[in-house]
Amino acid sequence: MTAILKHANEIVSRCRILASYSEEPEFLTRTFLSSPMRAVHADVGNWMKQAGMSVRIDNAGNIRGCYAGTSCSAAPLIIGSHLDTVPHAGAFDGPLGVLLGIGLVEMLGGRRLKFPMHVIGFSEEEGVRFGVPFIGSRALTGDVDNDLLARMDSKGVSVEQAIREFGLDPARIGEDSVAAGRYLELHIEQGPVLESLDLPLGVVETIVGQSRLGVRFCGQANHAGTTPMNLRRDALAGAAEWMQAVEHKARATADLVATVGQIEAKPGAGNVIPGEVSLTLDVRHGSDATRRENVVAFLDCARQIATRRGLNVSFEKRLDQPSVSMDGALTDGLARAVEDCDHPVHRMNSGAGHDAMIMARRMPAAMLFLRSPGGISHYPDEAVFVEDVAAALAVGAKFVNFLEAGGE
Ligand code: GLV
Ligand code: MN
Ligand code: MN
Repeated sequence: MTAILKHANEIVSRCRILASYSEEPEFLTRTFLSSPMRAVHADVGNWMKQAGMSVRIDNAGNIRGCYAGTSCSAAPLIIGSHLDTVPHAGAFDGPLGVLLGIGLVEMLGGRRLKFPMHVIGFSEEEGVRFGVPFIGSRALTGDVDNDLLARMDSKGVSVEQAIREFGLDPARIGEDSVAAGRYLELHIEQGPVLESLDLPLGVVETIVGQSRLGVRFCGQANHAGTTPMNLRRDALAGAAEWMQAVEHKARATADLVATVGQIEAKPGAGNVIPGEVSLTLDVRHGSDATRRENVVAFLDCARQIATRRGLNVSFEKRLDQPSVSMDGALTDGLARAVEDCDHPVHRMNSGAGHDAMIMARRMPAAMLFLRSPGGISHYPDEAVFVEDVAAALAVGAKFVNFLEAGGE
C-alpha cells in the first residue's frame, strides 16, 4: 500500500472512532455540545497536537487547531467542517473534512508555510438540537446574536445555557470571530452525481440556498370513538393533506426540493384525535427567488387547508439562507490542483448546506467534494472510498502548495 493510501486509511479509521461517540447506543447521533462531543474533542485535540498544532475550544464549542506559519502578517488558510451529526447519522458527513484538514497538516511533515494553517471542527452545522444550523461557523463570522442564544431545544435548554453547561462563556463568543483568511472545506458529496460519472472528486461552484421553518396546525383533541368524522378538527389529517400538497408542488417544479423531516402529533395516543401537530419544512433551490416564491405558496396552501378544516396554522421562520457562490480564484486554484493530480475536473453545485456558505461571508471560500458510494448520506450506510480520500489528500496538498507559491 502506498504511503498516501495508508494515510487515507488512517483518516477513515479515525472517522469510525469518532462515530462511536454518540448520544445513542445503537446509532450515531451527536448534537450541539452534547456530552459525547467531549470525547470527540479529546481525540481530535490529540490528533491536532500530534500534527504539531496548538489546540483550543472556543466559546461556541468549536475545536480550533493552529499550525503556525513563518510570516507574522499572513492570513491563515482555514480548513474546516463540522463534528455534530443528524440523528442516526453516518460517520463521514463533517468529521471527514476535519480529519482531512489535520491530515494535510500531517503531510507537511513539520515544514512551515508562510501562512498559518487552522483546522476547525465546528460544533454545530446540522441544526438538529436548536432548529437552526451553523451555530459554530456563525461564531467565526461574528453572527451569533441574542435571538440565536435564546433559542430553546426540546428540553427547554437555551443555546446560551448549553454553552455554559459545557463550561464555556457565551458572553465571549464575539472574541472568537476571525477577520481574514481563506477557507477550504473537504466534504462527501452526499448525493449520486460523482458516482454516476465515475469520478472521485468534484469542485463546488455554488451551494444552493435553503429555507427552514417550523409549522404548527392546531385543531381540537377529542375522543376517537365518539366524534363523527364531519365534526372533527383533526390537526394531523390537515397536516397530512398539506404534506401531500407540498410534495406534489415540489415534484412539479424543476430542481425544487421540499422536505417535511420531522412531525409530532399531540396528545399522541391511538384513541385520541390529534389536536396539535408540529412539523418542519426544508425548502431548497439554486434560485433564491424560486425558493422564496415556493415557500410563500406552501404557506398559503397551509392557510387554505387550515381554514377549510377549521384549524389554526402558524409558522416560525428559522432560516432563510441565500445560495452562496464559492470564490472564483480560489475555486480555479482548487480545480487546477485536481487537474494536476490527473483527475477530471467536474464543477458542480451543492444541494446540501455547508459551513463554507457561512465562512464565505467573511473570506474567499472553496469546496472539494468526494464521491459518496451509493449516493447515500444522513444515514448509517454513508461511506467513502479510501482511494477517494487519498485523492482528496493529494489534491489538498497540491492546493496548499499553490497558495504557498502565491498562485491560486
Ligand atoms: C446539512 O447537512 C444540510 O442539511 O444540508
Ligand atoms: Mn449533514
Ligand atoms: Mn455536512
